[in-house]
Amino acid sequence: MATPDLSVTFTGLRFENPFMLASAPPTESESNILRAFEAGWGGVVTKTIGLHPVVNVAGPRTKFLRHHAETGVLSMNKGRSGVLHSSWNWELISDKTLDWWLPRIERIKKAFPDRILIASIMAGSGNDRELEHWRVLASSCQDAGADGLELNLSCPHMDRPDMGSNIGKDQALCSFVTQVVKEAARVPVWAKLTPATGDIAVEAAAVFRGGGDAVVSSNTFPSIPLIDPDSLEFEMNVDGYVSSGGLGGPAILPQSLALMAQMTRAAPDRSFSGIGGVSEFGHGLNYFLLGCGTVQVCTAAMLDSAVGPNVIARLVSGYRAFLERHAERGWRSLEDFRGLLRDRVVAHSQIRRPDSTNYRGGYERQEGYAADSPEPPPARTREAAAPAGGAPGAPEDADSWRT
Ligand SMILES: Cc1cc2nc3c(=O)[nH]c(=O)nc-3n(C[C@H](O)[C@H](O)[C@H](O)COP(=O)(O)O)c2cc1C
Repeated sequence: MATPDLSVTFTGLRFENPFMLASAPPTESESNILRAFEAGWGGVVTKTIGLHPVVNVAGPRTKFLRHHAETGVLSMNKGRSGVLHSSWNWELISDKTLDWWLPRIERIKKAFPDRILIASIMAGSGNDRELEHWRVLASSCQDAGADGLELNLSCPHMDRPDMGSNIGKDQALCSFVTQVVKEAARVPVWAKLTPATGDIAVEAAAVFRGGGDAVVSSNTFPSIPLIDPDSLEFEMNVDGYVSSGGLGGPAILPQSLALMAQMTRAAPDRSFSGIGGVSEFGHGLNYFLLGCGTVQVCTAAMLDSAVGPNVIARLVSGYRAFLERHAERGWRSLEDFRGLLRDRVVAHSQIRRPDSTNYRGGYERQEGYAADSPEPPPARTREAAAPAGGAPGAPEDADSWRT
């Protein structure tokens, strides 16, 4: 049997395996990133580096919400016995300066020349000085040896209207900032988008119009901590106050997948890196089957010795076992099954109904002189809904699934 090939080439970069640590506390220091590569991560995105001053809140920056099945309680503060629901954070970008980061990027690349190190960078967009910050960050990080750049267009904690997720909500700014960085970059440029938007496929298209090489999603979802029913305080607060922060972990996996499907369906030939709720191979597989070429992990790694040595071991062994299991189909690497279920995410009206004769996608039957109004698409028949080669979930032949 041929040995499975775990490596991937994504935006021209060769990864030993498609699993990366996302920009977050696991990647905030040189020692963490070195430990991550020793543990086997194929790539690492640094904690976001910026040029503006960063001062975090006076209290914990992250907490974990757990469900306690015996009482039904969902709480951040009732111990670790519950099942993890999500992480919540209001941590800003790296509080270390660019000068602190540059020699470290250089040393990490010297120690692990074959692993992929992406520098996450962030600046504003409201004036020329801020645009120059993007250029400075991009050229300094690539000169220090970063293999690629990830533009943080998604930090959910920004009061500034020209920064973070406020860029990610504005397609013109997404395009413009990507273009500014592309002009300074020799390495691939990825853009990490915010889930807090109406139609993320619009911003993804804008990034690609600006010359971006890949879109990354999701950053954390806007959310606030729960209120403790006894103390009547937010479970996480400073002086009783809280502001909207970001939700990550298992709770966001299905939501992040929905956004990813929107984007990969709209731009099937483009590159996407999936993030959100991944802690084992089966989770990452969802992103791959929807068309992603890499996946990134934060919350699960934070809870596993800070950089996820057990998580990456599980991801790699799960992936190897998966390829071995599907060897007879001829699947030897990610490209053999990437995007296989992308086109199974369809409009609601395309889902088969027991009786579709009276279903018109929510529209009234046309009457009188309204014949000019557009006809809704017909609902799928049973035959059309079933993929060629078998029932949903039971692929017989990879090629027959492709349209
Ligand atoms: C404490 C914390 C800090 C984070 N900081 C950053 C950051 O600096 N830059 C960034 O792009 N994303 C940041 N993220 C978002 C993560 O990279 C990731 O997109 C998100 O947590 C979803 O992945 P997960 O479900 O695996 O946690 C942070 C997340 C957490 C929990």
